[in-house]
Amino acid sequence: MSSLTTPVLELKDVSIAYDTASLPVPAVSHVNLTLERDSIVGLVGESGSGKSTLANGIMRLLKGRARLAGGQILVDGRDVYQMDAKTLRQFRWNSMAMVFQSAMTVLNPVMTVEQQMMDVFLAHRRGLSRQEARQRSLELLDMVRIARKYARSYPHELSGGMKQRIVIAIALALEPSLVIMDEPTTALDVVVQRSILTQIQELQKERHFAILFISHDFSLVAELASRVAIMYAGRLVEVTESRGLHVGSPNHHPYTEGLMRAIPRLTPEDVDIEGIPGYPPNLRELPSGCAYHPRCPYAEPVCRAIRPEPSLIEGRLVACHRYDPEKGGEFIHVS
Ligand SMILES: Nc1ncnc2c1ncn2[C@@H]1O[C@H](COP(=O)(O)OP(=O)(O)OP(=O)(O)O)[C@@H](O)[C@H]1O
Ligand SMILES: [Mg+2]
Repeated sequence: MSSLTTPVLELKDVSIAYDTASLPVPAVSHVNLTLERDSIVGLVGESGSGKSTLANGIMRLLKGRARLAGGQILVDGRDVYQMDAKTLRQFRWNSMAMVFQSAMTVLNPVMTVEQQMMDVFLAHRRGLSRQEARQRSLELLDMVRIARKYARSYPHELSGGMKQRIVIAIALALEPSLVIMDEPTTALDVVVQRSILTQIQELQKERHFAILFISHDFSLVAELASRVAIMYAGRLVEVTESRGLHVGSPNHHPYTEGLMRAIPRLTPEDVDIEGIPGYPPNLRELPSGCAYHPRCPYAEPVCRAIRPEPSLIEGRLVACHRYDPEKGGEFIHVS
């Protein structure tokens, strides 16, 4: 099914719930998103908005009592939830790979870097000799610019940045078409973070895989990705090109506006930070209508009553009554 025109990732009305003793928690609700080949799409949202749940869902690695509650997830045109266990095992790493949020703890502390890299090749490339697997592992180290002498090191002998580079290298080992990176650099200091991000960008340009890049750092995502999906309380409230995303650019979801304003900016006078007042809702007790209404400066009665559906506004998908032409009389249409 896969061809050059098949999107790398298609999320069709995806919902994921955590089953609990009481009601299921709707962590992801009715998400629609497409990732084209050779592109970087960002997924942003505050803590608890459902980003990691969605990422794990795509990989079919849902943890605990989470389950796909609705919709379809296609990677390279193939339904991830229709595969048998063996096919799925091959498909992971070969076609889709993930750098986990707690990536640095993913490395096995009692195995050398080289052993861990070789294992990926030996498990997934039948017929490969140990010697060939070792050679490929060394090439992976070259790829993320780690000197080959570290091949025999154990994870605790490496810095945080080096460990993270190794985790990224392992994800790229089998040249998947989709790589999900869930907060790949959050645990690192700013300088290391910057150099790893530059490296991710370079590798992407060279190797043409697609990245779903997850972060709560809006400015970082806007810089790295060509498109950004903004998640609030389990739903995408906006999907937009990142070009032109800046404070004052019109027709964004009020939550997107809030995130943009929350970016620290150096103005001639002083540092200017404006956070979004209030907190994201508890998913077990979502506000009626639009889940963002209690924090929204533009909230109107309809926002409390009816949940807005996404509509296309100047090439972006925005789920907000403010832009609903049918409610035009009551709302300002910023243009
Ligand atoms: N094991 C669980 N059982 C029940 N609910 C859960 C469980 N894990 C997560 N959730 C719910 O799913 C929601 C989304 O969690 P998730 O980890 O996907 O958010 P996130 O956007 O990745 O946050 P962060 O930025 O902190 O990583 C949480 O707000 C929580 O309500
Ligand atoms: Mg997360």
